[in-house]
Amino acid sequence: MSTAVDSVLVEPVPKLLGHVAVPGDKSISHRSVLIGAICDGETRITGFGRSADTEATITAVRALGVEVYEHGSDTLRVFGKGLRGLRGPGGAIDCANAGTLVRLIAGILAGQAGETFELRGDDSLSRRPMSRISDPLGRMGARLETTDGHLPMRVAGAQLRAIDYALPVASAQVKSAVLLAGLYAEGETTVVEPAPTRDHTEHMLEAAGASVTIRPTSVTVRRAESLSLDEVEVPGDFSSAAPFVVAATLVPGSELHLHGVNLNPRRTGLLEILERMGARITTYNRRAIGGEPGGDLEVQSAPLVGTTVSAEEVPLAIDELPLFALAAACARGESVLRGAEELRAKETDRIEATVDALRALGARARGRDDGLAVTGVPARLRGGRISSRGDHRIAMLGAVAGLASRDGVRIEDAGAVAVSFPGFFELVDGLRRTARTRSRWDE
Ligand code: S3P
Repeated sequence: MSTAVDSVLVEPVPKLLGHVAVPGDKSISHRSVLIGAICDGETRITGFGRSADTEATITAVRALGVEVYEHGSDTLRVFGKGLRGLRGPGGAIDCANAGTLVRLIAGILAGQAGETFELRGDDSLSRRPMSRISDPLGRMGARLETTDGHLPMRVAGAQLRAIDYALPVASAQVKSAVLLAGLYAEGETTVVEPAPTRDHTEHMLEAAGASVTIRPTSVTVRRAESLSLDEVEVPGDFSSAAPFVVAATLVPGSELHLHGVNLNPRRTGLLEILERMGARITTYNRRAIGGEPGGDLEVQSAPLVGTTVSAEEVPLAIDELPLFALAAACARGESVLRGAEELRAKETDRIEATVDALRALGARARGRDDGLAVTGVPARLRGGRISSRGDHRIAMLGAVAGLASRDGVRIEDAGAVAVSFPGFFELVDGLRRTARTRSRWDE
């Protein structure tokens, strides 16, 4: 691997061997700081997944008057202000690139009666839709003024009323915003999902002592007077493990172990999809990590066949769908992804960004209104040059493609990986060194 300013060349690797531990789950890290901020007293967080996104969350709660002490890189102590103790900082709260931060914090701020707040973000976040939260939170009685449905957004906290809300899109961020606001609302707030999405908010609220009823596709929360979390242990992020799962599947002769990964079934849809395609992935040491189902993964390379991913599977693999498309490009036959129009509302339009990247690397892919279609060839991709477009998941797609390619992949704007996984390229480099050392032993 060689680096110019923010341009990284990922060269092919003969095989991937060894053991990897990935950073703490980003979704749970955000939630632990945000919910810790409205708890009474101290919340101690271990295994915190430090990244540009989660740093933005720490900065945001500090701006609201919450003290956060950092011990080393992955242990935090958050001194909560209680449910109703957050104060408007006087200036805007910068949510940077973090969709989870802006959507979840809006739900909390909506309940801070008498206080007003302004939320901003970077260019990418400012292009993403905010009416999906201003609509339900407005129905609960808060006043949210967006800029044509986007950031900057002003939130005027109010006395909230409970609602029954059927989510128009399957989104854990929107579900979470409404549930968090529901803590402040008189009565029972119920969110009904069109399909199950990640359930970390409802489980963490339950652990914090809120009255929560969790059903397969709906959640009810009741007004709370106080919350307390004490300890949160954050498991490894499946979304950060996924690039290595796909890389080890695609690079022949690989055998890679990933340790301490969150295996919540609402996150691991990619495993089911890959297994259907013929991947050889074994789960072992299954155990609870911080209340989530966790474990270790062993991934051996395997030839893949194409598959169809349906709308119900999309929320369970939402952040891994670009990686699915890459796997499909190296599988025998046709693959189709349907019901995934949500990908257009991510850090980039991920349908367009994925198709463009795959084509630039020699794959046959085309976009559909609601997803994409790929004609795979069971061989190494040619390789080439892509831009991440500032999207961390597209940068990681490029890196996995590079490892499994014939000629390597140059990634422009590769620094975007820091949004979720700052040490990503160092880990890739470490695996390359392990492969080199092992092949010397094998000679
Ligand atoms: C997230 C939910 C998903 C996901 C995002 C993190 C969360 O977004 O894409 O990376 O932590 O709740 P949507 O809920 O908007 O689909």
